[in-house]
Amino acid sequence: MPPQHDVSSSGPSFAPSLFAEDCLTASPAVRLRRLAPADAPAIAEGLSDFEVARNLGRVPHPYTLADAEAWFAGPAQDPDALRAGLSVNGALAGMVSLDPVGGAMQLGYWLAKPFWGRGIATQAVGAFVDFAFAATRLGAVEALHMVDNPASGRLLRRLGFAPCGVTRERSLARRATVEHTLSRLTRADWTARQPAIETARLSLRTPTTADVEETARLPADRPVGLATAQTAAMIGQLDEARAFILRAAREPRPANLRLLMRLKETGALVGTIGWRAAEPGVVDLGFWLGVDHRGRGLMTEAARAAIEAAFRWGAADAVRTSCRATDWATRQVIIRCGFQWEGSGLVRPTSGGPVAADQFRLDRDTFLSFREWTPAAFHLSAG
Ligand SMILES: CC(C)(COP(=O)(O)OP(=O)(O)OC[C@H]1O[C@@H](n2cnc3c(N)ncnc32)[C@H](O)[C@@H]1OP(=O)(O)O)[C@@H](O)C(=O)NCCC(=O)NCCS
Repeated sequence: MPPQHDVSSSGPSFAPSLFAEDCLTASPAVRLRRLAPADAPAIAEGLSDFEVARNLGRVPHPYTLADAEAWFAGPAQDPDALRAGLSVNGALAGMVSLDPVGGAMQLGYWLAKPFWGRGIATQAVGAFVDFAFAATRLGAVEALHMVDNPASGRLLRRLGFAPCGVTRERSLARRATVEHTLSRLTRADWTARQPAIETARLSLRTPTTADVEETARLPADRPVGLATAQTAAMIGQLDEARAFILRAAREPRPANLRLLMRLKETGALVGTIGWRAAEPGVVDLGFWLGVDHRGRGLMTEAARAAIEAAFRWGAADAVRTSCRATDWATRQVIIRCGFQWEGSGLVRPTSGGPVAADQFRLDRDTFLSFREWTPAAFHLSAG
């Protein structure tokens, strides 16, 4: 069942499989993953620290293993909440969650004290919020933080949350009523912070579930060139399109990034482009343009802008790509972007058997000098 969350409707639920796979963050050590009852001891250890519990309204102090086990047996089952474990180097170190509270979805998070002050929570909560907006139809996320918890306030501000009110709430651990600041991040504000590329004719944006149906209609044919399919959108059906979008939402940005290409003039979805970290300093670029839109230079226009973004945002020193040996149209796009031929070999696309492919590489220095004499008009915004 697809995630169908919409804060304006009642009784929505998140698909339990949303966090079946890890959600990666910009730091390889920090991940979001599905919680399991076996995490109860780690949760109890983290929340039994008064320094953690005092900033969380509904966590009592002392907090024991029995409390964590009771939480797994009860509230953790709520299908209207979205929750993820935060792991650092494979060990559970905290949690991030979205719970329905009074018609809104409220963000909550905590990190065990030994991990504080290293930017871990900002990274993990940021990845969670990005994932929640990309993978659901959520209209807004709210968060409450106690006015004497500046770390939480700064974290929310950094993620784009805007303060919108003050309220007094009960703190179980403090056994007192505490003043809180209410902050909100709307989908529009979140969207405005997402990586975006504008070329003369195209808008390139990260996908969300709102794009599923159109994405599923995209490939009238199977991708032929697609630089050969390592980042391919083999997306001819709704479930494949949804899986493609969820995969994109789980990837560690900006080391990996997938973008949907739309024509500015009509808003029509015409293709996909993206890169993925292959080895330190090197990203693999993949792209695909719908068959009806080929022959107008659109792919070269998008690829040149995406390559610039991969160098800037993905911190790449080199971009690699490949195309089927017989695919002259894709080869032309690749050559026009300044890639140098590196060799030939067998490449295994995301589906099907291995195909004969040519491999190409573009180093940062070559790209910079190439850009000098073939300036391109595009605008990158990292959000
Ligand atoms: C809030 C919490 C998750 C932050 O975790 P963290 O990994 O240490 O946070 P980060 O390192 O990402 O830092 C977040 C911001 O707070 C700032 N910060 C950290 N400690 C601070 C402090 N004591 N005073 C002021 N600012 C502080 C950081 O500098 C950073 O701001 P910046 O990005 O502008 O530099 C963690 O302290 C925690 O779990 N606290 C207890 C539970 C809690 O408060 N949950 C949130 C409830 S709303």
